[in-house]
Formats: sequence, structure tokens, C-alpha cells
Amino acid sequence: MIILGVETSCDETGACVEILQNDRVVLLSNLVASSQEIQSKWGGVVPEQASREQIKSIIPVIHEAMEQAKITPSQIDAIAVTQGPGLIGSLLVGVETAKTLSLIWHKPLIPINHLIAHFYANWIRSDDTLTELPKFPLIGLLVSGGHTDLILMKDHNNYEYLGGTRDDAAGECFDKSARLLNLPYPGGPNLSKLAESGDPSKFTLPKPMIDSGNLDFSFSGLKTAVLLASQSKDFKDRDKADLAAAVEASIIEVLVKKTLQAAKIHHVDHIMVAGGVAANHKLKAFFEKSIAEFLPREKLFIPPANLCTDNGAMITAAAFFQKPTSDPLSIQADPNLSLKIS
Ligand code: KG4
Ligand code: ZN
Repeated sequence: MIILGVETSCDETGACVEILQNDRVVLLSNLVASSQEIQSKWGGVVPEQASREQIKSIIPVIHEAMEQAKITPSQIDAIAVTQGPGLIGSLLVGVETAKTLSLIWHKPLIPINHLIAHFYANWIRSDDTLTELPKFPLIGLLVSGGHTDLILMKDHNNYEYLGGTRDDAAGECFDKSARLLNLPYPGGPNLSKLAESGDPSKFTLPKPMIDSGNLDFSFSGLKTAVLLASQSKDFKDRDKADLAAAVEASIIEVLVKKTLQAAKIHHVDHIMVAGGVAANHKLKAFFEKSIAEFLPREKLFIPPANLCTDNGAMITAAAFFQKPTSDPLSIQADPNLSLKIS
């Protein structure tokens, strides 16, 4: 089975062709055009601008993805597209393009929830060799720009929502802290880079809800602590790296501790992490260290960094495990899709 997938939820235009072999989703091509450089001028994503860039990129990116995969429309079995959540203008570009292709090529259309798709980056392989795949039941931690959620995944299309952030997402906390430190957009990777030369012990920041006894998160107080520290009269430019390291360490510790708690409570042996923040290599290292120390039976899955941030490959991968819609024309972009509706 071969699927073409399209992702346009924010400022990235992704198109990808994949084939299912030995239960592994194998990449035939994976194209991402990003308007991040344009957005960085404004310090964040300007929705109107992002959707205009989507319109420019969508056809060339799909065309190139098909070319690189050496696939013609007749060889495709289905088309997958991000239905939501995301920016409505950006989503509409992908959804309407996919609907049109589905009609003119007579191919089934599979609408995909972007959030659940992030997890499917863990099923993608560059070939069909028998590397281990995530096994159900498993705990999934989604850490993206707008979402921080924990789910218990019992099977494909069968999961229980365990908890999530009550205010800011972990990625948002990275981004807003980066802004307070005058770092360029995108904040997360830039803050993490600066943190490499910092000493986290120089600042005592909160680790919100770390011992709350439930699986919810809250990061807005941490952002406020960064604001207060950075505005203190003693704060100097040379302290920025230490503050960056401290906020990164707090976020990571909370994320890892809660995820391990979830794995323990639900007696699962596999944990998978997904979303843009999963590209953070200190998060991965802290997960590995904590698992070795506290839950050594646990197996950890984190996609390679380029499959953590938004891409068409994860949308396509998720589609192999979903049913096509019976009426492509009925699909509507939905900016508010969430993981809570299962
Ligand atoms: O999943 P994603 O690409 O887009 C959304 O669906 O939101 O996630 C973007 C988020 C941003 O907050 C970005 O700053 C963060 O992921 N991010 C990182 C890193 N790379 C991306 N945060 C920390 N460290 C990174 N290396
Ligand atoms: Zn995303």
C-alpha cells in the first residue's frame, strides 16, 4: 500500500510518499518547505502570511515528493491530509488541495488528526529491516508548540487521555522564555543551544506540578518565573545562558517524571515521545538516564529530530492505520481538533 500525505497545519508545507512493508512505514520521499525564515522577522508565526506561503508551496512540494518517490498518481492507494488542529488558513490549503486530488485521481481520502500523527513518526523507518516497533499498550507523551498531553495507547485508534497542560504547553514555555531572553524565533532550539553553555544550578526555578499526584501539567508559572528573573536589576546579559539552562532543566524534569509515573501506574513497557520538543537532545538523554535508574524494563521511542517537528511523513504514517472517509467532499479543516476526543 502506498500513501501520499500532506501537512499544512502551521508554517511548514509537508508532502511525503510512504509504503507499508513488514508493518514498518517506509519513506519513499519526505519534503518540507518552511516559511520559518519569513516568520522569524516577526518573532513568531503571522497566520495570514503562513497561509499565503502554504499556497505558494503546496503544489511544488507535492510534485517534488512524487518525483523523488518515482511514483505516478495511478500507483497511489490513498491520500492523507492534516484535518487539524492548526491555523485555519494554513489547514484549508492542505485540505482543499487533498480533496481536489482525491476527486481528480479517484483516490480515497484519509483525514488525520495532527496530534495523534506526531506519535506515528515512531513507526517510520528508512527501510523495512526488523528494527523494533512500539508495542501496545504504551504511554505516549506529546510535546509540541501548543500541546503537552499524556495518553495511554491501547491499540491503533484506541487510546485513553491521561492528562495534559492546564495552561501553556512545554513548547510554548520554551518559546516564550526564549523571547524573554531576546532569542530569535523559533525559540525552543535557540534556547536549548544557548543553554549548552549555561549552568542550571545558578537559578532556582519552579518545577510546576511535579508532585501534583496527577498527570496534568502547567508551565505558565515557570514562564513567569523566567520573566521575573530576567527583569531583576541584578540580571546581566552573561546570566542568560544560566537562566536558559535552568528553564530547560525544569521543563525536562517535569516531563520525564510525569511520563515515568504514567508508565508505572499503567504497567506498560513502552514509552514514546513525539512533537517538536522531542527533538531536544537533553530531553532524550534525561529520559534515558531516568529510565535506566527507575524503570529499566522500559523501552523508549523518540523519532529522529527531523521527524519530531512538523512534517508530512507523520501524517502519511498515521494514515496506514486509519480508515478513509466515505465522502471526501465532507471533510472540513478543524482548527480545534484535540486528543481529548477519542
Ligand atoms: O510539533 P511542532 O513542530 O509544531 C507544533 O505542532 O506545534 O513543535 C514546535 C515546538 C516549538 O515550540 C519549538 O520551539 C519546539 O517545538 N522545539 C524545541 C526544539 N525543537 C523544536 N524545543 C526545545 N528544543 C528543541 N530542540
Ligand atoms: Zn506539530
